[in-house]
Amino acid sequence: MPRSLHLNLFVHGRGHHEAAWRHPLASDLALTDLDYVTGLARTAEKGCFDSVFLADTLAAGDDIAAAPRSWLEPVTTLAALAAVTSRIGLIGTCSTTYTEPFNLARQFASLDHISKGRVGWNIVTTWLATASGNFGGTGPLSHAERYERAEEYMSVVKALWDSWADDAVIDDRAHGVYARTGSIRPIDHHGPFYQVTGPLNVPRCPQGRPVFVQAGSSETGRAFAARHAEAVFTAQMEKATAIEFYRDLKRLAVAAGRAPDQVLILPGLSPIIGGTEAEAARLSQELNDLSDPEVGRKRLSGRFGGHDFSHLPLDRPLSPDDFPDPALVEAARSRTEVIVGLVRREKPTLRQLLGYMAGARGHYVTAGTPEQIADLIADWHAEGAADGFNLMPPILPAMLDVFVAEVVPLLRRRGLFRSEYSAETLRGHYGLNRPGLLAADF
Ligand SMILES: Cc1cc2nc3c(=O)[nH]c(=O)nc-3n(C[C@H](O)[C@H](O)[C@H](O)COP(=O)(O)O)c2cc1C
Repeated sequence: MPRSLHLNLFVHGRGHHEAAWRHPLASDLALTDLDYVTGLARTAEKGCFDSVFLADTLAAGDDIAAAPRSWLEPVTTLAALAAVTSRIGLIGTCSTTYTEPFNLARQFASLDHISKGRVGWNIVTTWLATASGNFGGTGPLSHAERYERAEEYMSVVKALWDSWADDAVIDDRAHGVYARTGSIRPIDHHGPFYQVTGPLNVPRCPQGRPVFVQAGSSETGRAFAARHAEAVFTAQMEKATAIEFYRDLKRLAVAAGRAPDQVLILPGLSPIIGGTEAEAARLSQELNDLSDPEVGRKRLSGRFGGHDFSHLPLDRPLSPDDFPDPALVEAARSRTEVIVGLVRREKPTLRQLLGYMAGARGHYVTAGTPEQIADLIADWHAEGAADGFNLMPPILPAMLDVFVAEVVPLLRRRGLFRSEYSAETLRGHYGLNRPGLLAADF
């Protein structure tokens, strides 16, 4: 039996392609309609996906007139999804830079109880520079400070989730004893960024702690992931760099004293699926024809922290000199490395680059038949480029529906993917251990 493959559904707008919201195959429902995301989660659960994943941004984009980038807030939405699904994992993004650790620990503990152990937290430091203005900040924090704060943040939230022993609640109505006070303790955290007394006011959650997911791939991001993450989302534009990333992160995890199978690597994959190659190519062309390069240009600027690309002509080949050095970028550093890497390798024009980025913002995009997509998934998995994928359907729900109906059965036939759930929790689906308490001295 080959090692198991993991699949998450990454929900984003009406699909991951920049222009998906305009395509006739995209949903007619409003992006704020709960029925929309409920339908997607149910389809993914029918396909036995490991999880549904919701990203988050903390500011409306300045291209809001031409691109829908605002939808329901993830924690609230996951609570609603927990009530209408029963097995699929639920992963939500929440920022270490702009959320108090006590609030976050409480919300995710509650979500884990509500969903009976199906919750994961995508830990992000928020690269978007304009978010700062919504939280009383005078400007964005540097990349280094964001990760420094995130490190202390992890100590605080882990201690809060561990502040109740598993057996703290006895609920003994006959004798009037609700909880063993000796099994609940303050955390008394005093650090450079956070002062938190604790304990948490929610009992220990079914999974012990939510599953830790992480999605920053810069050098600092990888070191952080190696220490904390149990699943890593990453954007890779080709198999060779994906293999390199996979090996590096597993090596870093081992160096941090962790078992490599306790850190899953899940690159993004955005497959445009057609009954024939020609149909897939036609769909791809339709999406590109609906794209607006000026929307892409603004988004590119945001990734580089607001760098001005307005002077660049659309149709001359680019060179790395047209971009700031990614090592100096304070915003989405690893994504800028992916972009400059592509420019170095392929020297696209700006129009071509924006066309590619429109596909799935720098994640791997491919077009083909169900067999070709299944081959690619099996190949990356077998070659050590991925433990699974964060599936980013270019158009929703159409490309999710066809993936579940056509690609999933092919993966099952190869013995790669489950036909039914064998576990109740997200940890169970991912094959992750339940964490012990930080200190076993209750
Ligand atoms: C699949 C994926 C999803 C992400 N989702 C979010 C998100 O929802 N919100 C966010 O602020 N950053 C998100 N990021 C960005 C990273 O979490 C990270 O904070 C940012 O890129 C800066 O870190 P880095 O320079 O280490 O990559 C995502 C990245 C990936 C690969």
